[in-house]
Amino acid sequence: MPKSMDEIVSLCKRRGFIFQDSDIYGGQNGFWDYGPLGMLLKRNVRNVWYEDMVDFHNELVAPNGAPEAYQMVGVETALIMHPQVWKCSGHYDLFHDMMVDCRESKKRYRHDHIKGRWVTGTHKKNEEAGPETVFITAVDSEDVQTDLDANALRYFGLKKKYLEKLDWEGETTPLPELPEDKLTEVVGPDVTSKGTLTEQREFNLMFKTTLGALGGEDDAAFLRPETAQGIFVNFKNIVDTSRVKVPFGVAQVGKSFRNEITPRNFTFRSREFEQMEIEFFCAPDESAKWYTFWRDKRYQWYQDLGISQDNLILRDHHKEELAHYSVGTADIEYAFPFLEAGEYGELEGIAHRGDFDLRSHTEGKLKKEGDELVVELDEHGQPKHRGSGKDLSYFNDETRERFVPHVIEPSAGADRGTLAFICEAYHEDEQPDEKGKMQTRTVMKFHPRLAPIKAAIFPLMKKDGQPEIAQEIYGALKAAGISCQYDQAGVIGRRYRRQDEIGTPYCLTVDYDTADDNCVTLRDRDSLEQERVPVDQVVSEITARLNG
Ligand code: GAP
Repeated sequence: MPKSMDEIVSLCKRRGFIFQDSDIYGGQNGFWDYGPLGMLLKRNVRNVWYEDMVDFHNELVAPNGAPEAYQMVGVETALIMHPQVWKCSGHYDLFHDMMVDCRESKKRYRHDHIKGRWVTGTHKKNEEAGPETVFITAVDSEDVQTDLDANALRYFGLKKKYLEKLDWEGETTPLPELPEDKLTEVVGPDVTSKGTLTEQREFNLMFKTTLGALGGEDDAAFLRPETAQGIFVNFKNIVDTSRVKVPFGVAQVGKSFRNEITPRNFTFRSREFEQMEIEFFCAPDESAKWYTFWRDKRYQWYQDLGISQDNLILRDHHKEELAHYSVGTADIEYAFPFLEAGEYGELEGIAHRGDFDLRSHTEGKLKKEGDELVVELDEHGQPKHRGSGKDLSYFNDETRERFVPHVIEPSAGADRGTLAFICEAYHEDEQPDEKGKMQTRTVMKFHPRLAPIKAAIFPLMKKDGQPEIAQEIYGALKAAGISCQYDQAGVIGRRYRRQDEIGTPYCLTVDYDTADDNCVTLRDRDSLEQERVPVDQVVSEITARLNG
């Protein structure tokens, strides 16, 4: 049974995982708030990523598939960086979409998302004016498709049965291929007049802000669209202060901002989101091996946390898809339920960035010329965007060689990862209730490391000392740092259902036998198996199960 995105979104809202931002004011497109459970889940995603990539990494031993042992460190850098950073990184010049506005509908479209075709027809309400030829358009993006036939019928005021009265010419053509002097004959995708679309113009995806009180153009700054640049500009600081030696990686988790034109598909494409990025610095002649290592390691990470291989693909980019600096890039993609069967959405990109970033921040923005990266010049033959002039090369004191390291960048989205874990966890099955009647159970099968609540403690009855024992167990689990809930409301079956729906892997029930055998019943969310565990071993048993 395919999973329903509507059901998943509804559960996220109902149980306090994710809310539309500024909900009481009607919401704000592209921004999301994480509720009490969502906040815990996303924090677990970030923490598990950081533990697996940095904290638990043993720099003395080469992991499976790695060419050699390597070091990992972390940083936390500013959200607003020097504007020159974005000029040298390429975001200032290249990080934009071409947009057109419709003067009538006030809608804005990505230029390359509009297609159109010439058609001749006669207006129903103005037949005496005779036939007219116009370029009818429709939207054709990954998220929205509108229909040329319907738009043409609307323009001419005709019913569907008169479709054959329209005389189509030529092929359907993307709007960018239409000469600009024909714009007056274009009918926008959502209107019934022609000539309402503006000429295309650049729309930079970086959010602009102003520093200080005076607020002139010289004070303009940008909210970072990626965390990566905070690592590159600190490369020298890190090498000089941390005793790291190439090969080593620097990890950072933090917010990024992009003024996305079409934020869509729940949290998948947001305007404010969190990234988990690694910049891995290595010797140029080792970089191909490291690229393969990181690609495979990151692909395995999602599977280790419960994403089925049936829903996950590793897709190598075609040469034309590669970013201007990239020698090779692969995407890890997930079959999100809002996509058609067989389609996948990007969770993470692993890019071989060569020496583009470090050299750009030294020499000024680079561009590719043939196989070479050269400084981009302005009309006066000067660097278009000046670099820092600081030497960002690395000296290997064993081989006595100096070089600019190459970079492998595994760049993951914390919100997209969280959304994929939510979609993967969502299950419905049939289970008998207290009276033996089959009921649909909604269960979030989160990996125990990711589950927002790890254990729930119930007294079967609110009497006979059961609440006191249950509260003591609850206190012991809390003291051990295990996130848990205490619940004594309603019949036991309903309490189980509540926990299943938020993905709690273990439920513990204090019952009538507890006073005699000093044990509680531990119920596993997925297998539904129940076993007796001594009260004084509950914390160690849950800890052992969580650590798998
Ligand atoms: N430093 C490289 C970089 O930023 P990217 O492919 O643009 O690469 C990396 O972004 C990851 O960040 C994506 O794979 C995705 O998970 C996440 N991401 C990018 N844009 C996003 C958006 N608008 N909303 C949510 N996540 C986004």
